[in-house]
Amino acid sequence: MAEATLRTDPPMAARGSQAGAAIVIDVEGLTKSFNGRTVVKNLTMQVRKGLIYGFLGPNGSGKTTTIRMLCGLLTPDSGRGTCLGYDIRTEADMIKRHVGYMTQRFSLYADLSVRENLEFVARVYDLDDPGAAAEDAIRRLGLENRAGQLAGELSGGWKQRLALGACILPGPQLLLLDEPTAGVDPKARRDFWDEIHALAHQGLTVLVSTHYMDEAERCHEIAYIAYGELLAHGTVEEVVANAHLSTWTVTGPDLAALAETLKRTEGVDMVAPFGSALHVLGRDADRLEAATRTMREAGPQLWRRDEPTLEDVFINLMSRSRDNF
Ligand SMILES: Nc1ncnc2c1ncn2[C@@H]1O[C@H](COP(=O)(O)OP(=O)(O)OP(=O)(O)O)[C@@H](O)[C@H]1O
Ligand SMILES: [Mg+2]
Repeated sequence: MAEATLRTDPPMAARGSQAGAAIVIDVEGLTKSFNGRTVVKNLTMQVRKGLIYGFLGPNGSGKTTTIRMLCGLLTPDSGRGTCLGYDIRTEADMIKRHVGYMTQRFSLYADLSVRENLEFVARVYDLDDPGAAAEDAIRRLGLENRAGQLAGELSGGWKQRLALGACILPGPQLLLLDEPTAGVDPKARRDFWDEIHALAHQGLTVLVSTHYMDEAERCHEIAYIAYGELLAHGTVEEVVANAHLSTWTVTGPDLAALAETLKRTEGVDMVAPFGSALHVLGRDADRLEAATRTMREAGPQLWRRDEPTLEDVFINLMSRSRDNF
């Protein structure tokens, strides 16, 4: 494969760069409709080189559609931008050559072995020595004991590991991973994420969509998209802080009944059970405080001030977005 270099010279790629870091994804105003329904609306985002960028949002919010526009598989109806410095409208072939895209569904051959699948990918990408490239990937991902096994017979976790191996085999600069760990057990997910971090450490940029909050917290930056609109982005801490959600955690007896009362109380915007506690949230701290004062003082539950979780923030963003939909 030809040595690929990240172009940083075009004006689009240089725009908005922070502290000189190269911008790998730089898109502005992306919009896409299917059958007259807009599923991605005016989406602007930037991803810096070497970052693990998490893409979160409810089902059908436009994550996969966005990923497909970024790598040139879908043309936006409007908007523009670059991926790895290449224009997403006119240089899709160059983007595809340097991007590893792991689709939401397992896309390797179930009736080929692990080694055969990897060799096949190496041939498609015209690598010099497909056998050696496949062996490298097998070693790197710890697939030695499973190299002869049919891909279709692997467990979910190993299938995803193989798919990741196939993705990185051609030496991409950017990985687009669409829900790579859906339905995978916690240990396999953790191993998968350790590998993603190792790849980022080597300079690869990773855009990964996920529904798991623990995975969001392992990203350097995240973006939250609902109903086609990008509603929040930044580090996890920034996203939580910018939500300005006042939060109380309540413990004690009769929480279910209390939750019902709170849901009908003006000034309380969200009530969510968390294990043996209740999270009570409001967008206006003063209103929430006033609305809950009597309950807090009368007991019998114990109320304490808390920080919202990332999940609280996302559910709040989603419900606000639905109200405006
Ligand atoms: N090729 C298509 N033709 C028509 N509608 C489509 C097409 N692709 C996606 N859609 C619709 O666009 C919307 C956004 O879909 P998309 O797959 O991008 O969401 P998503 O955020 O990836 O969801 P999930 O979390 O379920 O994977 C959905 O309503 C989907 O049905
Ligand atoms: Mg999707």
